[in-house]
Amino acid sequence: MALREAMGRLLPLIEEALQEAVKPPDPAVKAHYGMMAYHLGFADVNLRPARASAGKRIRPLLCLLVTEATGGSIERAMPAAVALELLHNFSLVHDDIEDDSPTRRHRPTVWKVWGIPQAINVGDGLFALAHLALERLADQGVPPEIVLEALRAFDDTCRLLTEGQHLDLAFEEREQVSEEEYLQMIAGKSGALLGLSTQLGALVSGAEPAKVDAYRRFGLSIGRAFQIRDDILGIWGDEAVTGKSVQSDILSRKKSLPVVYALMQEGEAGQTLRAIYTQPEIAPEDVPEVLHWLEVAGSRAYAERMVREAHAQAMRALEEAQPLEPAGAALRELADSLVARAY
Ligand code: IPE
Ligand code: IPE
Ligand code: MG
Ligand code: MG
Repeated sequence: MALREAMGRLLPLIEEALQEAVKPPDPAVKAHYGMMAYHLGFADVNLRPARASAGKRIRPLLCLLVTEATGGSIERAMPAAVALELLHNFSLVHDDIEDDSPTRRHRPTVWKVWGIPQAINVGDGLFALAHLALERLADQGVPPEIVLEALRAFDDTCRLLTEGQHLDLAFEEREQVSEEEYLQMIAGKSGALLGLSTQLGALVSGAEPAKVDAYRRFGLSIGRAFQIRDDILGIWGDEAVTGKSVQSDILSRKKSLPVVYALMQEGEAGQTLRAIYTQPEIAPEDVPEVLHWLEVAGSRAYAERMVREAHAQAMRALEEAQPLEPAGAALRELADSLVARAY
């Protein structure tokens, strides 16, 4: 209830601010910004205005809900919310190249439509726009020392994100990965940005450091639950719902949690999967067998348990943060919906 009200109010403001952020400043480079608008769901492949599947916008939502939960102003925090979504989308444009992914949000990825060189550049453009957006906190009257702290946290997140992506790619080549290594990888590739989202919401409100930290930990745990859920959907999700290919994680030997868990096992499931994962190539015909042994290994149930544990940890951090209502209720509902999501 609280979440529905908050989304109805905040999402249109987020969309408007995002659209403004990718407006071409010069007609000569209209297509560069058009590709960004395509990725964000504001344009079609011919770069004409359209309303396409745009993503869940959970990072700006988390940021703005935390702003409300700490008594801050949405208007003042909007530059941070926009920066978070732009940074997320920069990472996705590059991630789709890195993962060789043809589909995102039910549509061809930027690199599939315009080629890898332009897609790299579109990602770089979004990265620069994300920084410029965040710097606009200063125009909203946010004190310079808070803006600097926000910028520092933002850049540190970019660093962690690339570390996580490095590990994610490097693990494709590894026969086995421990759960600890996996958790470090996902904390970087997706946890850090969710932690930053809740952190910035509180920071911009002028919340005290202990509270900012509790919100950051809330976001980090949500991030862990969210990424493990994404791993589950990457194997057992419905392509028509997720808008992403379900076979690609297996074909590219991604060490997502269900796979990490099964590869560690002593019994037949572990042995067979280790044999499949050390073949020179995993073919589409091998996928049903992989799915079978993952099920036998209990990988799905294990990953679901890990999602529940991370969610519980997030709830404890949120309680510690003592959010104002009704924003607190909306944050709890958002967390619940993310861990149960099918898309
Ligand atoms: C996808 O993130 C990448 C991960 C961190 C798992 P989202 O699932 O938030 O992507 P969109 O923006 O809603 O499409
Ligand atoms: C998510 O990567 C994290 C980043 C994009 C940095 P994944 O590769 O796991 O996410 P999807 O499944 O492509 O959205
Ligand atoms: Mg990836
Ligand atoms: Mg990917």
